[in-house]
Formats: sequence, structure tokens, C-alpha cells
Amino acid sequence: MNVLGLSAFFHESACCLLQDGRLVAAAEEERFSRVKHDPRLPVSAFRFCLQAGGLGITDLEAVAYYESPLKKLSRQLWAGIPEGASPDLPWLDPGAPERAIREGLGWEGPILFFDHHLSHAASAFLLSDLPEAAVLTVDGVGEWATTSYGRGRGAEVELFEEVDFPHSLGLLYATLTSYLGFEVNDGEYKVMGLAPYGEPRYLDQMRRLVSPGPEGQYRLDLDYFDFVRGRRMYSDALPRLFGEPPRRPEAEITRFHQDVARSLQAVLEEILLAKALWLHERTGLPDLCMAGGVALNVVANGRILREGPFERLFVQPAAGDSGGCLGAAALAHAQLTGKRPEPLRHVYLGPRWSADEIAGLLAATGIQAHDFRGREADLLEAVVDRLTSGQVVGWFHGPLELGPRALGGRSLLADPRDPGMRDRLNRLVKKREAFRPFAPSVLASHAAAHFDLDHPSPYMLETCRVISPLDLPAVTHVDGSARPQTVDPGMSPRYAALLEAFHRRTGCPLLVNTSFNVRGEPIVASPVDALSCMGVSGIDAVVLEDFLIDRAMLPAHWADLLPAWRERSRSGFARGQSAISEDLYTFV
Ligand SMILES: [Fe+2]
Repeated sequence: MNVLGLSAFFHESACCLLQDGRLVAAAEEERFSRVKHDPRLPVSAFRFCLQAGGLGITDLEAVAYYESPLKKLSRQLWAGIPEGASPDLPWLDPGAPERAIREGLGWEGPILFFDHHLSHAASAFLLSDLPEAAVLTVDGVGEWATTSYGRGRGAEVELFEEVDFPHSLGLLYATLTSYLGFEVNDGEYKVMGLAPYGEPRYLDQMRRLVSPGPEGQYRLDLDYFDFVRGRRMYSDALPRLFGEPPRRPEAEITRFHQDVARSLQAVLEEILLAKALWLHERTGLPDLCMAGGVALNVVANGRILREGPFERLFVQPAAGDSGGCLGAAALAHAQLTGKRPEPLRHVYLGPRWSADEIAGLLAATGIQAHDFRGREADLLEAVVDRLTSGQVVGWFHGPLELGPRALGGRSLLADPRDPGMRDRLNRLVKKREAFRPFAPSVLASHAAAHFDLDHPSPYMLETCRVISPLDLPAVTHVDGSARPQTVDPGMSPRYAALLEAFHRRTGCPLLVNTSFNVRGEPIVASPVDALSCMGVSGIDAVVLEDFLIDRAMLPAHWADLLPAWRERSRSGFARGQSAISEDLYTFV
């Protein structure tokens, strides 16, 4: 039974393959197209999934799509035509996704459509290892639902209450993200990272924007918002409420912006905690599964687990819309077989390159490299040499990760004890806002000695207090928290071995782990992407499987070639896409 899951045409399109209930491949289209948050039909991810499964298109039993275009149409019609929208409105065509799948992918078999929040819910519960659990999904908007509550048991997921558009915690967060001068659907992480610098001085104003209702409900005061029919997220009343004009992108961040971010985060957590409490009472179940873009708010997740009523929390690691394809595929599998798919074991589900393929690439491009084939221990020692001398190392090993976090497949690594490392990483490669902390990877067996954490956190989906006897300035946030990845040798053998080698040398079983990309670009997928990233940034060394390339080994002319290479790659992928109007990607 081969089922292909698909999410597309909103933001972050993706594809996955379930073979006999086992998730064997999954990837976001942006990693192939190199267009960040690429919402287009995921043609490249689709080809990859078929190839990874050793399948031709006729070997598929069904394609499962992550939302209902017809239900979405009813919300789009209710909201009316956004100002400035194209007059021929191709986005009001509920047949467009099916046509794209037929014409763009060449699929002639059955397409099963599942509601957006049911797909989110299934992506969390059906892929968890919990026999039964409460389910909470929270995002900007799906068809109508923006928050949904339910329970899962065996191969079934039932949603029993929802909050409908335009009342939306995701859109509340997005609106304040926009007011604070960051990009919607991208800058929400930055607002969360900014919050600990501020004080919650604007709680009264924030509670006028959103107020809790009975049971699972809450409401936005729409006087302050303009996203239903306007072209902005907020109305003029919102800056008046806070007494300050909106921050211009890249403008200075002041105490005011920090305080607004802190107040927003506090009110989001307050509502989520209250609703988690209600869901717990309603279901009587001890465990909770979560998905939807708001489930990527790792600070709120940490509080739900510590202060909420549930004993265990499983957040599906690709909780945003890219992971909707997992839920759609899981629902299709359950519908077609009556069985539940196997639990998610890891997210190393994307393309990989063998050491021999990389050797071929290096030979063809004339790039010198240290060859450690058959000598893994020597490779790890060579990497530790570089890390302990303050270098930033690009680490490319095994399959690409699904979801927003790099987890040791495509990561940039550095020494977390180095007080200058945060600035150095930002200067050399990340170029991101100085206030944002980096996250650590820690050997799972040592995690409890360094973090206030009593369970594994393999996907970096919650924050906790740093209690380490070591000074870890590069990974500790201003409020003394961190967002650790616990690394288990069973899940990531080579990455765990590297952490062990670093621990043996330094007494520190942790590394800085940030995603392998430059600002504004998706995480690298291929060896060429990794070398390109090295070329356009200041990364000191890159490991490509068994090869180590120091910066000095990169030919001087390489950097000059890269912009043209990247442009060629981008336009090549664009030609392969179905010609669906860009207007379809707008959410209203
Ligand atoms: Fe969603």
C-alpha cells in the first residue's frame, strides 16, 4: 500500500510517502527549488518520494491532499475579494489543486481530500506512539478552523470543537509580528526570541485584542485587525491602542518592541494553557498531541508541559503546513487499510548522497578535500580539532531533515562555551538579529546534567532552564533558557559519536547546532548547496559525509560562480512547476 501525501498552495509545500504504513520519505519543496517557503506544487519533492520508495507513479494507490478546497472556497467567499486581488480570481477555483495534481504530477488515480485541521491532528496523533491522546491543533487558518480540539484512539482521530476564522491565535501572532516589523509566516520565531528581553507591560492592551470564551473558544476584537478584507494585518486602531507606530523592517528594536513581544507571548501562553486545561477535562486523557504552526512556539510548548495538566506531550516536528501532508497520508492509509500507520521514529526522511557520489562531485569540480572514507574516528577527531579552535563547521551527513529544525543532518556546529561564538556565527553566516539565541545539541545521556529536562527532546520543540555547571553563553537565552536537541546514538549514530568525541576532548557533551543555510535561504539539501553556502559565507570548514573541506581548499574563483549557479538552479525548478497563479497562494 503506497500512499503519497501532499500539502501545497499556501506556504511550505511538501510531499511524503507512506509504504505499508511506514513513513519512508518526506521533504519540503523549498529544499529542492531553493525558494524559501515555496508554496508551489511540490514536483521535485514528489519525484524524490517516488525515487526513495523505488516506485513509479502507477505503483501509488492514492494521493492524499491536506485540505478541502471546497470548504476553503466557502471561507474565501465569506471573506470577500481582498483589496488589490486579481479580477479573474483563479484562487476562487476549488478545482485548481486537483487539476495541478493531474496535470503537474501526471497522477490519474484517486485523490483523497482531508480537512486542514484533521490533517494537522492526524499528523500528530496517528504518527505518535500513544495508543490514545487528546489532540490540539492551532494555526493561522485552514479552511475555516483556526484551532481544533479532539481525541485520537487507535487508527481514528475525531475533532469535536473548533474556533473559526477570523478568530485565530496564529493570525493574532502574525498580526503582532507584522506590527513589530517582521515578516508574517517567517518572523514569528523572532518575536518569540525577542519576548524574554521585555516586560509584560502591555497585557491590558493585548487582552483587548483577544479574549477567552467558554470551553475551547476565544475571540479577536476585529476592530484592531484588517486581514479579513484589507491588505494589511492590522487596522489603524492597533497602533493607537499601543501608542506607537508600527516598526519599519530592519529599524532599531527598542524596549517598546521587546515589551510588546513579551506581552503577546504571555497572553498566547495564558490562552493555550487555559484551553489545554479545558481539553484535558473534556477528554480525561493524560497525554496530548499537537500540530499546526502555533505548535512551533517552543516556549509555549514548554509551559504547557510544565504547568499544564497533561503528563506527556508529542508535537509533530513538522508542525506547520508542510507537515500537513503527513496527516493526509496517515488518514488515507487508515481509511484504505483500517490500520494505523507506524509511529514517527525520526525526521531524517529527505534525500541523501553517498560518499562516492560526493567523491565524484569533488573530482569533477576540482575541489581538494581530506578523504576520511573508512576512517570515521579520524574524521570526528579532525572536526573536533576545528571546533575546539573556534571554527564554525558545516555538517552534512545522512538524509535531509523534514521540518524547520536542523538536527545533525544539515547543521552548522560550533563550541557552545565560546562567549564570542554567537556574534561570530552571525557575522560569518547567519546574519540574523543579534538577540536570537542559538540552540544546543546535547548527548541524551548527559542532558539532565545541563538542562531542567526529564524526558528526551529529539526535535528541539520545547524550551527549558539551563542548569549546566558549564558556562554556555552561545546557547543560553537572556532568561536562562535553551531549546536543546537531545541526541541519541540509536537515532543519529555519527552525530552522537561526534558529540562524544567533543566531550572526551573538552568535558562538554554539547555543541551549538544551527541550521546550515545563510539568511533568507532554505536549509541546504545537496552537497552543491552546502559548498555554495560555504562559498557565500564565512564558514570555516564543511564536512560532506566522509570528506572534510577547509575554507582554504575552496578554489578562489568558486565564490564568483555561485550566484549564477543558484539562479540557474532556481529558474530550472521554476520551469518544471505547474503554471498555477500566484494568487492561489494568498490565504484570504
Ligand atoms: Fe495549517
